Amino acid sequence: MAKLEGIRACVFDAYGTLFDVHAPVAKLAQEIGEKADALSKTWRQKQLEYSWLRSLMGVHADFWHVTGDALDYALAFHGIEDPGLKDELMVLYLKLDAYPDAKAALETLKSRNMRLGILSNGSPSMLEAAVRSAGLEKLIDQVLSVEDVGIYKPSRRVYRLAMQKFVLPDAPSICFVSSNTWDAQAAAQFGFQVVRIDRFGLPDDKIPGKPAAKVKSLSELPALL
Ligand code: LAC
Repeated sequence: MAKLEGIRACVFDAYGTLFDVHAPVAKLAQEIGEKADALSKTWRQKQLEYSWLRSLMGVHADFWHVTGDALDYALAFHGIEDPGLKDELMVLYLKLDAYPDAKAALETLKSRNMRLGILSNGSPSMLEAAVRSAGLEKLIDQVLSVEDVGIYKPSRRVYRLAMQKFVLPDAPSICFVSSNTWDAQAAAQFGFQVVRIDRFGLPDDKIPGKPAAKVKSLSELPALL
């Protein structure tokens, strides 16, 4: 695969890309029982839907709030009544596992003096907790949250924030890395050079935007830069 040219910073999506959003339910799978996988999928899907809906409605609430609302919906949808489960899952969301390929890829890029950032829907305190618990804090130069602009991805205002914070006037000088198809494609449409991490062999979304490269894991990223 051809290398990306002219990259001056590498900016990562957080949830689903560096951090495994299904880890909290997986940790309590025995307690939750056979609905565990479906619960986790509904939780994630509603979390994203609520972020998009709130952005369209112009009624912002931070990602902690949205994540809690989505979990309330998912528990109700699957008919799971377990007082205390919501709080347990939310606490686990602050200590998400990083995917096993994340740290080594970041270390390799850091050793080449690449500037590294996170650009995420997550609130600053959620992101700080996840980065710290995964031991990534020394590797990431800037942790950027949509809270600075008050609207969620895929608003162009969010992607523009990365250019502003890294003081890079040209979008293609940023390599944006995401496993979320819609995020990868929207960031490509915005103008970043995008690498989509296709962990699960998903088709592209039927929206504009074409990532520059698609690889199966973060381990393959350094060879592209
Ligand atoms: C994020 C969402 C897309 O981290 O997972 O921004």
